[in-house]
Amino acid sequence: MFEQIVIIGAGQAGYSVAAKLRELGFNKRIIMIGEEDALPYQRPPLSKAYLTGTMERERLFFRPAQFYADENIEMRLGQRVETIDRAARTIRLGPETLSYDALVLATGARPRRLPQRLLGEKVHVLRALSDVDRLRPQIRPGRRALIVGGGYIGLELAAVAAKAKVYVTLVEASDRILQRVAARETSDYFRELHNANGVRILEGTDLQALAETPRGFTATLSNDESIPVDFVVAGIGVEPNDMLARKSGIACNGGILVNAHGQTDDPAIWAVGDCANLPLGDRRLRIESVQNAIDHGAAVAANLLGAAKPYVPETWFWSDQYDTKLQIAGLNIGHDRVVVRTAPGGKGRSHWYFKGNTLLSVDAINEPRSYMIGKRLIQAGQSPRPADIENLEIDLKRVMETLT
Ligand code: APR
Repeated sequence: MFEQIVIIGAGQAGYSVAAKLRELGFNKRIIMIGEEDALPYQRPPLSKAYLTGTMERERLFFRPAQFYADENIEMRLGQRVETIDRAARTIRLGPETLSYDALVLATGARPRRLPQRLLGEKVHVLRALSDVDRLRPQIRPGRRALIVGGGYIGLELAAVAAKAKVYVTLVEASDRILQRVAARETSDYFRELHNANGVRILEGTDLQALAETPRGFTATLSNDESIPVDFVVAGIGVEPNDMLARKSGIACNGGILVNAHGQTDDPAIWAVGDCANLPLGDRRLRIESVQNAIDHGAAVAANLLGAAKPYVPETWFWSDQYDTKLQIAGLNIGHDRVVVRTAPGGKGRSHWYFKGNTLLSVDAINEPRSYMIGKRLIQAGQSPRPADIENLEIDLKRVMETLT
């Protein structure tokens, strides 16, 4: 049994490890170190309700400070770990040296920035509370925004800004928005939704140059347009925070490599959440989702206490844009067929991705029922007949029942 567990990173995954350790009865020392000077908080509202100002700051935090005091979780916030001495099992925190029996890296990911020639330092990003505090004052009626990147972050921000009467131009370098996470059918739906709300989306378009002007910036795009804007935001993906692990000689490759138990190649060091590159079937990947941060954290907490249970990640994602909710179950990588199901009344729809006859994933748009049933089927490794999905006469629940 460990005497002292140190968790580096106080985000969703780090919080999950600490809370679960206590829940499972671990009563020895837990130290959690966070670079941001804030108690662990939820990130999803940052690009949605918190950005619009409809959600109060206090509601972002998972727990108040009292929780950590009651649970005897020692919080070291606003501090950065400089080095790990693996032989001595210690970490350096400023002038202090702390020892560990087990170390958990929950260092998360950082937003990619535009390069210096595109004034990367002057371009907003949206990942941390402090980013939103800087960005929010920009979102006012009549302002002009350039958003670089058409993933969840860029599109959620576009929705919030458009609703606040900001003129938005969004450039996406690849041939369609949402290409990393969703398939073409879903991209098409969201493009239309944004166009209908006055957002100008330019796909296959790059930002070529950015020059500061007295009022803001002039952006030169790869389609030769030059547009004046008041502010620029980049939502061009994230990079795993694996620098500390790399510096310490822990194996990394697109994130910190962990085995199915969440352990790195140093058996005393574990990694969880966005920073961890984990095995899933016959591939390895990082999973950038809240669900993974929570579940992976909880699984590693149990494994630290000896559960020795492999973690099987579940891949659920969601996004809110305007009044539209996108929920994704599964991973569509390798699909060769998409079946569309339109909900009766035409309000919601779902896109079902198959490889041969195997259901890989479902994108549900304002269709919680399709999401729920698709998710259950994927979890159970079951595949409905594509024709049954397309056929609105057939109730989805029946489809599931006939399979189970
Ligand atoms: N110019 C324009 N577009 C770009 C550029 C560029 N220089 N570089 C990348 N892009 C595009 C990509 O093609 C992609 O469509 O930006 C998009 C980034 O999308 P994501 O990788 O999904 O990242 P992002 O939207 O920034 O989200 C970051 O936050 O909400 C979470 O799950 C989300 O973990 C993810 C993270």
